Amino acid sequence: MNLFGVYPINPIEIVKGVGSLVYDAQETEYLDLYGGHAVISIGHTNPRYVNRLEDQLHKIGFYSNSIEIPLQKQLAEKLGKVSGKTDYQLFLCNSGAEANENALKLASFYNGKKKVIAFTGSFHGRTSLAVAATDNPKIVAPVNETDNVIFLPWGDGNALTEAFKNNDISSVIIEGIQGVGGIKVAPIEFLQQIRTLCDEHNAVFIADSVQCGYGRTGRFFSHDFAGVDADIYTMAKGMGNGFPIGGIIIAPKIKPAYGMLGTTFGGNHLACAAALAVLEEIEEHSLLQNAAEVGGYLTEELKKFNEIKEVRGRGLMIGIDLPAEMANVKKDLLFKHHIFTGEAKPNVIRLLPALNLTKAHADRFLEAFSQLVK
Ligand SMILES: Cc1ncc(COP(=O)(O)O)c(C=O)c1O
Repeated sequence: MNLFGVYPINPIEIVKGVGSLVYDAQETEYLDLYGGHAVISIGHTNPRYVNRLEDQLHKIGFYSNSIEIPLQKQLAEKLGKVSGKTDYQLFLCNSGAEANENALKLASFYNGKKKVIAFTGSFHGRTSLAVAATDNPKIVAPVNETDNVIFLPWGDGNALTEAFKNNDISSVIIEGIQGVGGIKVAPIEFLQQIRTLCDEHNAVFIADSVQCGYGRTGRFFSHDFAGVDADIYTMAKGMGNGFPIGGIIIAPKIKPAYGMLGTTFGGNHLACAAALAVLEEIEEHSLLQNAAEVGGYLTEELKKFNEIKEVRGRGLMIGIDLPAEMANVKKDLLFKHHIFTGEAKPNVIRLLPALNLTKAHADRFLEAFSQLVK
């Protein structure tokens, strides 16, 4: 049987990882500033993570949501504490798309309305409604097409006010920083306006924090920089440091009912153990602070390069916008300097490393980057 070839693949086989370093089958060391696409939050093979998962596996790996799973309650409590959203409610699932799908659905259950506002440049996942709210027609299959999603220009306050004249708006979904869209930070006033309009029209503010959340920006949710709360935050990627887990946290005004949402695998014992290890590491090692400090340092240093068009982002979610003639930098970082980075079209390098990245590793990248662009 062949694999279904949907991914362009680098000819590298990674067989081992420690912290922010990974190794191929020939023992070549790579610096990982990509984190397997913003997923590795506390480092590869983090000892607490490995021990927690191993211990849990020896007890029980999985049982269904039809029984008491105290680990879920521990996770909810810890997540409330670390994120500051202590009165929110947690629903666990398995991925970012699933988190957004559930959030959009829950919003519609809540207010009985149908229309979703999403923005140009957005990426919310590949399931039915999440992909319909994603601004990329190439990945929307005919069966996913719907007139329930209204796309507005990113950051356009007038268009937003105008759109709310339709009184069937159920929710507004927005990334705190667009990831796939090229590391574009949502303007603070725009997030505040979304909050106000959602309040006035009984619509639900959904903060897609799948990529920009979980401490990556130095605050637990990037939307927190706007000083307003969303009604639902969606999470995945960094939540399990590689173990598949996603979730949504839901404001107290939205009440649950049996059967409203559900999942077979979501919130299983192993996933909760992984997620708890991540939050414990974040707390014990002040990783939000580290993300802000090392990320701030990287951004400041990168801004000194006149060759770069723009440096965008917050904390350890950084976009380096390069001119077209520097199209080879990402490839050269990988194959000449053994540094993994991410990308966004047309020519943005995305840095999405583990939250415990050291300044020494940041310097190793800056040195290599300097050699390539100078
Ligand atoms: C902002 C955002 N939302 C949702 C998703 C979808 O997450 P998943 O691939 O886990 O379904 C992604 C994935 O890249 C993302 O960046």
